[in-house]
Amino acid sequence: MSAIETSLKQQNPGFVCRTFAAIAGRYDLANHLLSGGFDFLWRAKAARLIAQARPARVLDLATGSGDLARALGKHCPDAQIVGADFCLPMLQVARKKSVPSLVQADGLRLPFRDRSFDALTVAFGLRNMAAWDGALREMHRVLRPGGMLLVMDFSLPEFLPLRAIYRRYLHHVLPAFAAAVTGNKEAYEYLGESIESFPRGAEMRTLIEGCGFSGFQARPLCLGVACIYTARRVENRG
Ligand SMILES: C[S@@+](CC[C@H](N)C(=O)[O-])C[C@H]1O[C@@H](n2cnc3c(N)ncnc32)[C@H](O)[C@@H]1O
Repeated sequence: MSAIETSLKQQNPGFVCRTFAAIAGRYDLANHLLSGGFDFLWRAKAARLIAQARPARVLDLATGSGDLARALGKHCPDAQIVGADFCLPMLQVARKKSVPSLVQADGLRLPFRDRSFDALTVAFGLRNMAAWDGALREMHRVLRPGGMLLVMDFSLPEFLPLRAIYRRYLHHVLPAFAAAVTGNKEAYEYLGESIESFPRGAEMRTLIEGCGFSGFQARPLCLGVACIYTARRVENRG
């Protein structure tokens, strides 16, 4: 897939929604196999970071099959956790796991009041959204001033020899293996290309701070294969 085709697909919510609808039934299995089970640890770490902020209301945006919403429920037992996603088949998987509060919604037009959440998480979701800055501004709108943003997503290892090896895995091994698990090779070719074009490091900091957040921190996971970014909504904006 060329970079232009990839960027066209990233601008196309219809493609993203259809892709996740097609793999919804096997999404979790593919995740656990392809990450070697590390995805459980990553979500638990994200949930623990959110728990430190003691939120009363958390939005898990792009909740998908609901695994992060469930981890949040475990680590923040007194908080109300709302999961939102625009792909109904993914939400149906989350519903089977008894995620209590689920809403079908587009991350770029959230059906929530201004300043209505204390914390907001988006795991492996922002990368798939049509406009990263538009989505982050919408997250800013629904977070209360001082509220915590947590973005978790794939990245590329900083150590260049490792990055070269990882790229071979990402673009060759992973799509073939994922195709065997999910029957959908295109979805996982798109995954590799979308990771390549997604901001990381200083670029991610600039993106997040430019959308009204401060106190940016990046926590690499598994030598930089993924990363957790946190920031706070700036008090005095909008
Ligand atoms: C890779 S899955 C991640 C699911 C879950 N957060 C996890 O950690 O496994 C990406 C999810 O983002 C959702 N998504 C992508 N763009 C979206 C948008 N604009 N609004 C809402 N959900 C979106 C997809 O439907 C999909 O369920």
